[in-house]
Amino acid sequence: MSTAVEYDPLSPEMLANPYPQYARFRRTAPIFWHEGMKSWVLSRYQDCRDVLRDNDTFARDRRRVGAELPEFLQNIQTIDPPDQGPLKSVLMNALRSQDLDTAGAQAREQITGIFADLARRERFDWIKEVAAPVALTITSHLFGVQRPDLQWYVKLSDSIARRMDIGLRPERAAVGNDARTQLNSLVDQWYAAERRPGVFATIRETAGQLQVPPHYVHNTAGVMFNASYGTLFATVSNIALTLIERPETLNALRGADRKLLDSATDELIRFEGPAQGTSRVATERTVIHGTTIERGQIVLTLMASANRDETEFTRPDELVLDRSPNRHLSFGWGVHGCLGAAFGRVAVRELILCLTEAPRLRLAGTPVRRTTATVRSLDSLPVSFTA
Ligand code: HEM
Repeated sequence: MSTAVEYDPLSPEMLANPYPQYARFRRTAPIFWHEGMKSWVLSRYQDCRDVLRDNDTFARDRRRVGAELPEFLQNIQTIDPPDQGPLKSVLMNALRSQDLDTAGAQAREQITGIFADLARRERFDWIKEVAAPVALTITSHLFGVQRPDLQWYVKLSDSIARRMDIGLRPERAAVGNDARTQLNSLVDQWYAAERRPGVFATIRETAGQLQVPPHYVHNTAGVMFNASYGTLFATVSNIALTLIERPETLNALRGADRKLLDSATDELIRFEGPAQGTSRVATERTVIHGTTIERGQIVLTLMASANRDETEFTRPDELVLDRSPNRHLSFGWGVHGCLGAAFGRVAVRELILCLTEAPRLRLAGTPVRRTTATVRSLDSLPVSFTA
């Protein structure tokens, strides 16, 4: 096995700024074994992308190497082709049947309303007052379900995000599993509620005709809702801080045309995307950079590091608003790549647009990073709008 590398993704230094450490990995230890996470860690763009696109050798579904996967955890994210195929096409159809322009207009209206209320306040917490309600309202709209109670859902989703770090913090499993169960109960409530147009109604109508276990569909509805809320919440949090720290970026986007706004959105998602890494399990013995990975071992691909790899991106540590091409991995890659990327981009673009039209957003206190490793986001971001 390769030599030990110091790496604590939950250390204050990493939470504050993981990118220098990622750069060191890419340079000096492109693959290393992390004993705590019992995983091989990959940090270079090409390696991460190769693993994510090779589902034959690097599985998501751990049952393919004989491990157990409890029923409540079986969903689109944890099962692989061919089982995943029919479920995936139902979700894709459900998302494609939504009108993105209408969704964008609804998002803009909602964000503008929130900003108008906040403009009168001397100081507010961006995370509580903007990121969480915006992400939850937009997601509930898209799904066509009643918005869950904000406080309750924020806590539930936070427990699920923390559960993603159980390799580092096994004690987070129990609360995280309980949150998953609560998410499944939320889906029960949607089934019992009156039908409204949206992603959930389409899933419900079409999935009944599928030859897949009903719990795959049921679990997936909840997982997808949270995939949308959790990533939008974190992206809206991270991007706000990035833009506050770089007022010249927001200035450059004032009055920008749609093309520049779209590419800037993707660039900001590359630069400070929430998903730091994802894992796969080797289905056979394989070798990367001379290191042997045994069947059944876990490989962690650090997408956030890949997104700063100079072999793929020129000036990777700068925001290049018109970057093209921009094949970042913030939405993942391959058979488990993000299904909601188009919608996610629209929602984030509308937020950026609203920020360009609002009075200048400034820091009004010290930001506090959330102590999660898999998903990078913030616990609090004290800010104010100043004219
Ligand atoms: C900016 C916002 C978003 C980001 C950065 C993001 C990021 C990601 C990433 C990195 C993955 C791959 C995870 C992996 O390989 O382990 C993923 C998967 C997924 N995302 Fe997103 N996402 C976003 C928005 C959304 C939205 C809005 C939805 C739903 C409407 C959504 C639904 C999903 C689903 C269902 C998967 C699982 C796909 C599969 O495993 O086959 N995401 N997302």
